[in-house]
This record gives sequence, structure tokens and C-alpha cells, in this order.
Amino acid sequence: MSPPRAFAIRTYGCQMNVHDSQKVANLLFHAGYREAASEEEADLLVVNTCSIREKAEHHLYSDLGALREWKTAAPGRVVGVGGCVAQQVGDGLLARFPQLDFVFGTHNVRHVAALAEAALRGERAARTEESAGPERFALPEAHPVWAGGRAARAYVTVMEGCDMFCSFCIVPLTRGREVSRTAEAIVAEVRALADRGVREVTLLGQTVNAYGRHDVRRGREAAAGTTTFAALLRAVDAIPGIDRIRYTSPHPRFVDDELVRAHGELEHLCPHVHLPVQSGSDRILEAMHRRYTRAEYERVARALRAARPDVALTTDLIVGFPGETDGDFEATLGLVRDIGFVDHYSFKYSPRPGTRAAEAPARDEVPAGLAQERLERLQVLQRGLPLAYHRGRVGTRTRVRVDGPSRKGGRQLCGRDPYHRVVNFEPPRGGIAPHPGDLVEVDLVEALPHSLIGELAVAPGSLAGRDGPAASSARTTATASDGDARLRVVSSL
Ligand code: 5AD
Ligand code: SF4
Repeated sequence: MSPPRAFAIRTYGCQMNVHDSQKVANLLFHAGYREAASEEEADLLVVNTCSIREKAEHHLYSDLGALREWKTAAPGRVVGVGGCVAQQVGDGLLARFPQLDFVFGTHNVRHVAALAEAALRGERAARTEESAGPERFALPEAHPVWAGGRAARAYVTVMEGCDMFCSFCIVPLTRGREVSRTAEAIVAEVRALADRGVREVTLLGQTVNAYGRHDVRRGREAAAGTTTFAALLRAVDAIPGIDRIRYTSPHPRFVDDELVRAHGELEHLCPHVHLPVQSGSDRILEAMHRRYTRAEYERVARALRAARPDVALTTDLIVGFPGETDGDFEATLGLVRDIGFVDHYSFKYSPRPGTRAAEAPARDEVPAGLAQERLERLQVLQRGLPLAYHRGRVGTRTRVRVDGPSRKGGRQLCGRDPYHRVVNFEPPRGGIAPHPGDLVEVDLVEALPHSLIGELAVAPGSLAGRDGPAASSARTTATASDGDARLRVVSSL
């Protein structure tokens, strides 16, 4: 009998793509493949693509060029492309790149093993048809060799697609219409993960807090099996073993009173919200079709702070959107200062095919040099934000979920606190070193621009109380999980 064939996956883009790659890996395990130690050892290579900006899309084209050599180095090797570029370009990719064997779109992850099998028999095929129903969520449970919970953390898809059609964004075209899973299926998945040692879940969706909204608005939530997003959070919060819940990415428009209350009340909901604002100018927000004003965004931020005073807010910003004036850009700088974001990600506007903003008249275009200048000014502001926040945390104690060795190397370990900040610390000399997945208490002693340095205060196994300074009810946590099937993430948004 020949040994099982080996696969490798390259992933570009957001957490949704990272999780899709995990789903691909799980499907391939079920089909009898094993994960290759490196691409050199693989027979099957899957590239999971991103098209949010032009640069992300170009990664695929340069990868495909370089992969010609990888393919010819060993006979029988196959290359597949999935993700947002695959969905958008479809079988045009097969026509353009003879070295490519199969293509699967964002709605067709479940077909990856069949496509790979066909490719290994020499058949080239693309599956990029849209699926408007929940069949794309009908995936097998985790294969035994696929632990899936990296350091006791796991992603859980709650909805996919986006109906918001922001004028700059390609996602509604690549991910299709909003489709929500049933609350029952989500809760069952989280329970199964908790049984396998997962302690922290990140609920995923392109507009995650729009979860179930079409059903709820039409008064048919029970029939459709969905709930409001806040009710879903409550259900997940009650699952034994789960000690941290995160979600990404919410849309400001759907941060309602119930979700705000959940932040004040739910024991395991982390005090960090990544809430993309995109611009501080009402004129630009309107042109972006974001469906909120600056004042409305500020109200949402204030409400979250009132419910959970220590909440850490982070955001995304775009500069150089068509028609953005110096005044609009100054308004964005002002907003960043006013809100007190802990961090932000800023991007230069990139016109995407098929979006409304891409048709803006040439006279509205912001010259590339000016957009670059604005980006750099925002980045200067950005560099100071986490450092200032970290300085304010020095002298306090926080709880860290251990991810593994820190980037610095040596003995230092790293993990994330409830606010999603990176904390590095030395394990104890002698005694038991914390494992990936453990929760440990750490005294913060030094602030750096990208991380905090801490000293281990309370080792695993002896923790109680809620994450963050709002500690209240007692709860014992800390369980290690070594189940860590690694996928190579080339870039993350
Ligand atoms: N150009 C630049 N940035 C974009 N984003 C989305 N579309 C574009 C685009 N066309 C940014 C937004 C979003 C983040 C994931 O990427 O800020 O929140
Ligand atoms: Fe894109 Fe807007 Fe949908 Fe977010 S809400 S995925 S920015 S269209």
C-alpha cells in the first residue's frame, strides 16, 4: 500500500480564510491525506487567496509563477486555488495558468477533496457556483488527527457573506449574501470543541453581529433556527469549559443595546472589540456607504465603555478614498485621537473590480503620493497608541492564555491577555512550565510598542475569577491542549 498523500496549504488574508484553511485541512484528513512537514514534501498544495486589496490578489499570481518549478520538481504534484480570488475569477484561472489543477470558491470548500482526487487523476476542474443556503456549512466533524484547537483556541463560523455593500469592498462579491448557521449547530460545535480541550472560541463572520438579522427582522428566528447575535453569545457563554469568547468582525450598525449589555454581563466575553470605522468624516462615510455617522459610531463606543469600562477598542481605517480632502483626513485623525483606540490598522484605498467606488470619476482620485503621505501620518499616530495603552497597564496583573515560545526565542513564552494584547514572560526556573493553552496570571512590568512584558505571578491550575479587572464570580480554569495542527499563514490582515 502506498503511503497517504501529503498536503500543504498557504493562506493569505483574514481570520475567515485562516479558518477556511483549517476546514480544508480537516476535509483532506477525512479523505486520507496527511499534513506534509513542508511544501517540499507535499504532493498537493492549496493556495487560499485574498482579494481585499490589489496587492493581496497579486500574491496569487506571483505564487503561481513560482509554483511551476515546484510542480515539475516531482511528477504527479497538484496545485489547487481557493478563497476570494478563486471565487471571483473562477475557471478563468484554469485557462490562464496551465500549471493550476483545480479551483474552488468560497462557497465550495466542501468539494476540495473530490477536486483534489480528480486532479491527481489528471482532471482539471473549477467549482465556484454560489450557494445561498446553509449547505456550505455542512462539513464533517473534526477528524481525530485534526485537533484544530491551536493552544486551546478555535475559530467557529457563525455566518458568512455580507449584504452591506460598502462601496469600496469586494467581500459581498466574493463571499456572497449573508447566510447564518443555526444557533443549535453553533452551540453543538462549541460543545464538541470544549470536550476536546478548547477553552477560547472566536466567533467568525464577515459582519458577525449581523448574525441571524434577516430572520430576526422578519420575525422568524425560531423557525430559521437563528437568534440575535447577543442571544447567541449568551448561549455560548453558558457552555461548560469555555472561558473566553471573542468575535470578529462586527459592523458598528449592528452593535445594539442587547450586544452592549452582553459586554457588561457575560462572564466570558472578552473586553476587546475590533470595530472597523474606516473614516472620521461623515461625507466619506456616506460615500463609503457605511450607514452610520461619526456621531453614531462615537455613541456606540461610549455605550460599550459604559457597559464595560475597561473595553479595548481597535479599528480599521482607509485613507485615499475617492474624494477624500485634507479636511476629511484631518477628521479621521481627530476621531482616532478622540475615541482612544488601543490600536488601529490603516490601509491605502485600493480600487476593486465590480465595486461602486471603483467607478468614481478620475477627478475624485486621491493622487498616490498624497494617499501615501496620509497613510504614513496615520501610521505615526498608530505607533504611539499601543505603547501609550501598554504603559497604562504596567503595574497591573493580567491573565494570559499561553500560545507558545515568544518570537524573541530563548525560554520566553508568549500569549494574549483578555484585551488581545501580546504578553511575553519568562517561565519559572524549575517547577512546571506552562503549556500552550494554559491560563496564567502575569504581573505587567514593561510596555513595548507591540507587546507587554510580564512576570509570572500565578501558575496554571490555580486561577479563579473573571478575565480582566472587572473580576467577579469565581471560576476555575486552565487546561492545556497540545492539539495544534499548524497551518502556514503567509499574511494576516
Ligand atoms: N481598499 C483598502 N482597504 C480596504 N479594506 C477593505 N476593502 C478595501 C479596499 N478596497 C480594509 C477595510 C476593512 C479591512 C479588512 O480592509 O478597512 O475593514
Ligand atoms: Fe466589506 Fe462593508 Fe461587508 Fe465589511 S461590512 S465585509 S467592509 S462590505
